[in-house]
Amino acid sequence: MAGISERVYPKDMDQESVDNIQGVMYKVFTTRYRVAARWVLEHFGNKGKVRIIDIACGSGYGSEILSRAGNVLGVDLDPEVIEYAKENYSGKRTSFTLGNANDFEFLDGLGKFDAVVSLATVEHVDDADAYMNWIYRALNPGGVAVVCFPSVVTMDWAIPHHKRDITRRGARRLFSRNGFEVARDYYQNHKLDMRHLINEVSHPENEIPVPPLKHWISYYLTHPHHAVLRAWEATAGGGVHFGDQEYLLVPDG
Ligand SMILES: C[S@@+](CC[C@H](N)C(=O)[O-])C[C@H]1O[C@@H](n2cnc3c(N)ncnc32)[C@H](O)[C@@H]1O
Repeated sequence: MAGISERVYPKDMDQESVDNIQGVMYKVFTTRYRVAARWVLEHFGNKGKVRIIDIACGSGYGSEILSRAGNVLGVDLDPEVIEYAKENYSGKRTSFTLGNANDFEFLDGLGKFDAVVSLATVEHVDDADAYMNWIYRALNPGGVAVVCFPSVVTMDWAIPHHKRDITRRGARRLFSRNGFEVARDYYQNHKLDMRHLINEVSHPENEIPVPPLKHWISYYLTHPHHAVLRAWEATAGGGVHFGDQEYLLVPDG
C-alpha cells in the first residue's frame, strides 16, 4: 500500500481503519468532496445540466463524487494522476485534462462553469488573489464556487508544496477582496498521533519530500510560537492538529 501522500487514492487505501493516517485521510478528503457535491446539488436542484470544474482534481475520486451534481471536468498539473484519473474515474459525467491552475490563459480557454470546485489548491497556487479572480470570471450567472484549504499551520512541513497558510479571518478577506460572499462554511478538525505520523512520513513510498533540517530551523527561528505549538502537540497535546476550512462562495452584489 502506498505511503502517506498529499493525494488520496481510495481504491488503494485502507479505508476502514480509523486508527491510521490513511484511514483519517480517506475520511477527511472524501468528506469534503461530499460536502461540496451536496452544496452544489442543493444550490442548483434539478435544473438540468450543471457544468462543474474540479480544479487540482488529484486521482479523480472527487470528480466522481461531484458528478452526482453535474458534468465534471477534472484538471490537474500532474500527468501521472491525470492518466490514473482517466483510467479509474472517466465516465459519462466525468472527464479529465492536464492543466495548470497558474496558467490563466489555459483556464480562461476552458470557458465558463456553473460551479468551480477547488479543494486543496489555494495553498498551492502562485498568487491566491489572481486565482480567486479567475474563479470569479469563470462562473456563469447564478454560479457558485467551493474552495477548501488548511486552517492550521502547514508551512513548517509542507514547503515547497504549500505557498501559504491562511487563517479563517484571512480566508474571509481573500474572498471579499475578490468579489465573493460566503454562503456556507464547514470546518474539519482532526488529530494525528505522533507515532503514526512519523511511521508514515518515514515510509519508503512516502511521496511528500520532508524539507531539509535547515528549513525547519529557519522556519522556527522566524515563527517561534509555532515551535512551541509543535513541541506541545508532540508531548502533552497528544498529536498533531490538522484542520480544513471549506466554503460555498457566491459572487457578491
Ligand atoms: C492535496 S492534492 C488535492 C487533490 C484533490 N483536490 C483532493 O482534495 O483530494 C493537491 C493537488 O493539486 C495539484 N496541483 C498543485 N498545484 C497545481 C497547479 N498549479 N495546477 C493544477 N494542479 C495543481 C497536485 O498535483 C495535487 O494533485
